[in-house]
Amino acid sequence: MRTSSWIVPVLAALIAVPDLAAAQTPGSTAKPAAVGAAPVAQPRSTPTSRYVITGTIKELMHGVIDPSADTIWDSVSFDITAAGVVETVPRTNEDWYAVRRHALILAESANLLRVPGRKVAPATPIPSLVDEPPAPEDLPPEQIQILIDRDRTKFARLSQGLIDAAVLAIRAADAKNVDQLSEAGDLLDRACEACHSEYWYPKGGAPAVLPSMRRKPQ
Ligand code: HEC
Repeated sequence: MRTSSWIVPVLAALIAVPDLAAAQTPGSTAKPAAVGAAPVAQPRSTPTSRYVITGTIKELMHGVIDPSADTIWDSVSFDITAAGVVETVPRTNEDWYAVRRHALILAESANLLRVPGRKVAPATPIPSLVDEPPAPEDLPPEQIQILIDRDRTKFARLSQGLIDAAVLAIRAADAKNVDQLSEAGDLLDRACEACHSEYWYPKGGAPAVLPSMRRKPQ
């Protein structure tokens, strides 16, 4: 249960990005960059964007959402061993608070997923991350991107599932209710699956989508 104490600071850093629009309002004391100054490497953003986007959906999944979901799922289990059934449930305040803060990370991560302009995956592999080979039914990131961009409202609706499950887990933690926490775990599982089966490994595959998308710009 002490696996992920670094996640909250990481998420806080992700959320606490400077608001470019505010920094550029008249009267702001921020000085404009000197003309001709060497360009500073910036995370992906456009001059008009309100948020500075550093990570992709893939990085949020791998680094933030998946580990937090594991903490929720691992918090309740029943293992059948030679010695009998071993029940793992949150018992101490610390256990319940760990559930709660990971549930909060999940709920707020849904907002991070919704930030406009966030890409599905980095353009080049992450050097320190050993990727599992994709399953045959997995779409490549550029096809997932097309599906998401085609209907942002649908993507937002599917991310709402994450919030609903996480809010139930927060309530369960506050009430120290194991049954409700189990229920939240099931709901969470369904929320992940509902989005993944729409974009990551959609039943219909992608080819039916791509030709019409290619024709659109003309
Ligand atoms: C609103 C949509 C959405 C929700 C909800 C969602 N995911 Fe994802 N997830 C994606 C997309 C899109 C990808 C594919 C990105 C990629 O890896 O290229 C993905 C990929 C992943 C990956 C693979 C990351 C990698 O290294 O390639 C993991 C693991 C993952 N999700 C875990 C989860 C878990 C666990 C949940 C639920 C707690 C969840 N996701 C909920 C959209 C979602």
